Amino acid sequence: MPPIVRSPRPFVVVGALVASAVLTQPALAGNGGFAPVPPESPNANGIHQSYVFISIFCFAIFLLVEGLLIGFVIRYRRRKRPRHADGAQIHGATRLELAWTLGPVLILFVIAAFVFAKLPSIQNVPSASAGTSNLVVDVTGTQFTWQFRYPNGVVAFDTMRAPVGRTVELHVTAPDWDVIHSWWIPALAGKIDAIPGRLNKTWFQAKRTGVFQGQCAELCGIFHAKMLASVEVMPADEFDTWLEQQRQQQDAGTGPLGEEMWNATCAKCHGPTGEGDYGPKIAGTALVTDPEAVEQVIRNGFGTMPPVGRDWTDDEMTAITTYLKENLGG
Ligand code: CUA
Repeated sequence: MPPIVRSPRPFVVVGALVASAVLTQPALAGNGGFAPVPPESPNANGIHQSYVFISIFCFAIFLLVEGLLIGFVIRYRRRKRPRHADGAQIHGATRLELAWTLGPVLILFVIAAFVFAKLPSIQNVPSASAGTSNLVVDVTGTQFTWQFRYPNGVVAFDTMRAPVGRTVELHVTAPDWDVIHSWWIPALAGKIDAIPGRLNKTWFQAKRTGVFQGQCAELCGIFHAKMLASVEVMPADEFDTWLEQQRQQQDAGTGPLGEEMWNATCAKCHGPTGEGDYGPKIAGTALVTDPEAVEQVIRNGFGTMPPVGRDWTDDEMTAITTYLKENLGG
């Protein structure tokens, strides 16, 4: 039987292609969380460019494959051929086979070359330019809190503050008794794992002031979803003032540290006012009025509660126990 050959109706193919382009449009427009957030740091910019570059190939391949699929379905449909008769049998097309082998190899090579060219600007921490130094912040992930430590000893939880335009180097880890977390502020850089016993480094250099949201990106336990993080980027002088003020307040045992620790570490399990949630009710109990007992629980854990504050300094311990006594003592 001779092969049945008739051109597909062009409008059908074109219509299908247009429809698929329209359907994927929302993804390209950036709404609905499909497209990445606008990059606000040079390394995030490199990641964004790689994303766009690879997406162009993906989209073109999608159109090609779906277009051919639809075209072939139409062109080689059964028509009046008897139901059990085979269609045309075609063997060997050397040039076509070479093309579909070499084409993908070439595409993968181009993508790899582009990404490897971008990688240094994504990964390498820029060295400090004259007159400025990189700000180093130690980032520790614990169930279910992000803890930040600045060079002058100031500590903060869940919200990091940083000066605009200056390179901030992040030394990311998790305590030995904890699990793996992943630090990720999409606008400022890619993910970096917080692994017990290991120090991973990443960085950002925020282009503008503002608050950039992020989220622990490694499933780390029941409140993984509550392990949010944000970076508040502020003018350099404002940041310096804030950092110095924090130092004085934390040394003196005044200021908002206790409340910050409560919200970041205790309230996620015990409820916003200690009324009980996943963890038991602690508001109004005898425990919260006894700083030494609280410290025991925080340093050693209790039942399913992890030792959230095993390595907290005495100042931090005082801040949280004082907060508990004054605000939840009943
Ligand atoms: Cu920490 Cu998920």
